[in-house]
Amino acid sequence: MKSSQALSAQQIIKQLIPSKSTTKAQGFGEAPVNIALSKYWGKRQVSLNLPTNSSLSISLPGLGTQTHLSLVENNDNTEDQAWLNGKRLAGDSEFAGRLSRYLDLFRPAHHYFKIDTINSVPTAAGLASSASGYAALVKALNDLFDWQLNQRSLSILARLGSGSASRSLFDGFAIWHKGQAEDGMDSFAEALPETWAGLCIGLVKIDTTEKPIGSTAGMQKTVNTCELYQAWPTQAERQVKLIQQAIQEHDFTLIGETAEHNALSMHATMIATWPPILYWQAESVLAMQKVWQLRQQGVEVYFTMDAGPNLKLIFLEPNKNAVKAAFQELDVIQPFG
Ligand code: DP6
Repeated sequence: MKSSQALSAQQIIKQLIPSKSTTKAQGFGEAPVNIALSKYWGKRQVSLNLPTNSSLSISLPGLGTQTHLSLVENNDNTEDQAWLNGKRLAGDSEFAGRLSRYLDLFRPAHHYFKIDTINSVPTAAGLASSASGYAALVKALNDLFDWQLNQRSLSILARLGSGSASRSLFDGFAIWHKGQAEDGMDSFAEALPETWAGLCIGLVKIDTTEKPIGSTAGMQKTVNTCELYQAWPTQAERQVKLIQQAIQEHDFTLIGETAEHNALSMHATMIATWPPILYWQAESVLAMQKVWQLRQQGVEVYFTMDAGPNLKLIFLEPNKNAVKAAFQELDVIQPFG
């Protein structure tokens, strides 16, 4: 972590965390996964995860990450030790490397970290595990070093780990303001006060194995090679506002149509990237067609999709049985009961 980019993240962290802190024996943090209803796709600044556009999400209670963290004195160049769902991660894996590079930002000299993480969602399956992962890690760091940071600072620190993690600090709806400042101090997420009883999210699991290209690399390729991408930031910014309005007015058609349109537009930019990025599988397309058929039959259900083949359905409780009948083994989550 000696590059100038890393240094700038370091400078930002210095502004946020207290210069003196006490270290506890162990820190703990937990955070939910979140599903973006209006997506983050593309960075205006890569090393700080500063997004091209704002985004808006809903967190899924009961699905997420729990992380225990401790600091060990290191006299013989021991690497960080990480366990994911009880399994020790190979030190040279991409996952462990990214984690350690992030922890370098907070590491006192001559120490390594022990990280014990439980994910209740399949890792790297397009179910936003990096979001809950980095949000839980930041909370664990805050606990371990007893920083007592506010939500805004935690959101900025989580963003430095993974952009979408900035939104996983919160339950319910969260908006991540893209911000304009070069140092990203105005690029953080905050909770929206509204709730929506009866709003349902259904998880259609098509394939939960590791995806061919992660979102970090995928969005960068899109920004660099996709001509359609020029239209994306304006559309996404407008759709964030529409979804906010839909949430305030409990306008289900507006939230569903906007979220589905937003997701398909993001995937259009991925497909128009070169070499192309297509996260869909044949079953993903069949599931989309099933959603459209249900709508034709009067069952109001919409979908959104992230950097993976799985669909997330959006519907209201009165349609739960009809949607479950069409999608066997659907996991249904009601974020507000
Ligand atoms: C498609 O937050 O995983 O899920 O900032 O590079 O870690 P990095 O990317 P990441 O991207 C998430 C992309 C998305 C859309 C979204 O969650 O808004």
